[in-house]
Order: sequence, then C-alpha cells, then structure tokens
Amino acid sequence: MRRGTTLTEFIIGEQRGFAHASGGFTALVSDLQLACKHIAYLVGKGALAGALGRSGSENVQGEQQMKLDVAANEIFLRTTQWGGHLAAMVSEELDGPYQIPKQYPRGRYLLVFDPLDGSSNIDVNVSVGSIFSVLRAPEGVSEPATEDFLQPGSAQVCAGYAIYGPTSMLVLTFGRGVNGFTLDREIGEFIITHPDLRIPEETSEFAINTSNERFWEPPVNRYVAECLRGRSGPRGKDFNMRWIASMVAEVHRILVRGGLFMYPRDTKDPKRAGRLRLLYEANPMAMIVEQAGGAASTGRGRILDVAPTELHQRVPVILGSKAEVERIERYHREHEQGLDRPFASPLFNTRSLFRGG
Ligand code: AHG
Ligand code: MN
Ligand code: MN
Repeated sequence: MRRGTTLTEFIIGEQRGFAHASGGFTALVSDLQLACKHIAYLVGKGALAGALGRSGSENVQGEQQMKLDVAANEIFLRTTQWGGHLAAMVSEELDGPYQIPKQYPRGRYLLVFDPLDGSSNIDVNVSVGSIFSVLRAPEGVSEPATEDFLQPGSAQVCAGYAIYGPTSMLVLTFGRGVNGFTLDREIGEFIITHPDLRIPEETSEFAINTSNERFWEPPVNRYVAECLRGRSGPRGKDFNMRWIASMVAEVHRILVRGGLFMYPRDTKDPKRAGRLRLLYEANPMAMIVEQAGGAASTGRGRILDVAPTELHQRVPVILGSKAEVERIERYHREHEQGLDRPFASPLFNTRSLFRGG
C-alpha cells in the first residue's frame, strides 16, 4: 500500500525550491515535530504516565502550572537546543529568554512557544496543543536579549501548532499557505492529510467566553447580540456557539470548517489588553489564519502589525472568517465615531423598533 508524504519529505521538497537553503531550517522543523510527537505521547498516556494534575508551581504570569505544562516546556527546550539552529528561545513558562547551553553551537533563528495550550483541559481529557513561532535572530547578536524577540508577527519565518486530540496533528505555514499533517502512530510519522487548508468565507459559528460579557466593549456586545438574535435579527440567520477553552482547538475548527474566535479586550483587569499572549499565541495563529485566507485582528488593526513591547504581552484576538473579522473591525470604527449610538441607547432592547444591522 502506498503511504502518503511525510512531513520530512514535504519540508525537504520545500527546501529544494530555495537555491541557497542550507537545510538548517529543515532540521529545526524536524526537531520541532519530534518535540510535538513526544508531547503527543505523554498527553495520550495521561494518568498512565502520571502526567495529570498540577505541578504545584506558578509561571512568571502568576498562572498555576500543570505537570504537563512543565514537562512540555522541558521537551521543547531539550529537543531543539542541541541542533545548532537556534540562537535563543522564549516560552510561556519561562521568565526571560533562554540561552542555548554553551556546549551547543548557536544558530540563526529564535523560537517562541506555548508548550501546552489549553492546559486547563488536560485533566478532563479535552484537546490541548502546542503553538510555536520562528523568527530570525538579528545579525551579529550572539546572546539574544528581550528586545531581539520584540519583532512584529509579520516578521515570522514559520508558525505552527500541534493539536493533541482524537488524532494528533501538526499544522504549519512557511508563508506559502497552510498544510496539515496527521500523526500515524504506528509508523511514527506525520503524514500530510490536509494540504492547502483554506478557511471558508461564510460562517454561522462563533466562539467567545460569554462569562466575560459584563467586561466586553460595546462593539463586541453588539456583534454577539446580533448573532444571538438569529434569523429574526439583523443577521437574518441562526448562529451556533462553541467554547473549548483551548485556542489550538478553536483555531483548528476554524481552519477546517470556518468560524470566528474572539478573546477580545475587556475591562476585567485594566492592566491587561486581553487574555492571549502576542508572541506565542496571537502571532503564530494570526499568520496561520491569514495564510489560510482568513483574517486576524485586535479589533482595531491587524495582529501581525502590532509592535511588541514585552515578551509576555497580551493582546485582544479576533480571528477567523474574513468577512466576520472585518465586520467586527467596522463595529469598532463605528463605535469610535459614535455611529452605533442606537445600539447603546436604552431604546435598543429586544422589543425596540430601533434595532438594526
Ligand atoms: P494556556 O493554557 O496556554 O495558558 O492558554 C489558555 C488560553 C487559550 O488556549 C484559551 O483560548 C483561553 O486561554 C481560555 O481562557 P478561559 O479560561 O478564560 O476560557
Ligand atoms: Mn496558551
Ligand atoms: Mn500554555
């Protein structure tokens, strides 16, 4: 029986399209896929490997770490530090830049990652994932510091995520479309199964944590209120809602069947612009979504254009089917111009004649 193209074969094929490619980048992707396979194995074993539960520690962002957050972070560091392709790394689980140990050669790339995304779902056996982004190290820098990582998402060389669900998959972009690979556990390889993923333009599905509704800004309130009114409302159709609490799983659903995902700016904690982190959650997912024909915005502009100021900076995230993202951006503009007043007024309630699209 003929087997499908492996991820290794695919990236070597891509590399051949570049006359000056040294193979270093291909080798880095190879290490990244090994890290994801190892984490897929641990996630799949769960309680059998003693992998569930809290580790008892906190990360720099004050979040309780799960045992698997710590283990996945270690796996990413150990699997990618030795190969000579990286100059330094940044992880959700580490305070500052991680320098490559002295015994290994340094390379030209920076790796930024969320080792385990959606880790609150681990103990309840719901899909989790890993997210990563590759940047170029600035020329002549031997020990990259914080400012060397503060590059806009538009500078990413590669972005990807692994999803550990009923099947484990790796979804990757090098800036020329998005491809999905499924882990064949028997032969131990990722095989291309979802070539050239494209986000459907139309959708009637949205994802947002509605328990935060009282903290949302008016444009988001307006969008969700209109969706909830369904066929008899201004949108003229019924919408469905999903919330998995794993960004990886939400983005994967959107890549496969379309939809909209929002973790918008809210007033819950005035010090935070949003919940998700720019460098290792928003930027890689924004690159993937754009490369698949969707859009990714803060509500006020493209995520990939945000100039980072901190390693663990948070941003509002609105991504998915392009027409929906553009609609919410328009609602933000209309709000700033005071054009959505009817929506904010007390006359604008479920029985009001003033409700409109
Ligand atoms: P992480 O597990 O890496 O900290 O990320 C969790 C993120 C993201 O995956 C998800 O969309 C969101 O947090 C869930 O937030 P709520 O707990 O507010 O639903
Ligand atoms: Mn995360
Ligand atoms: Mn995480």
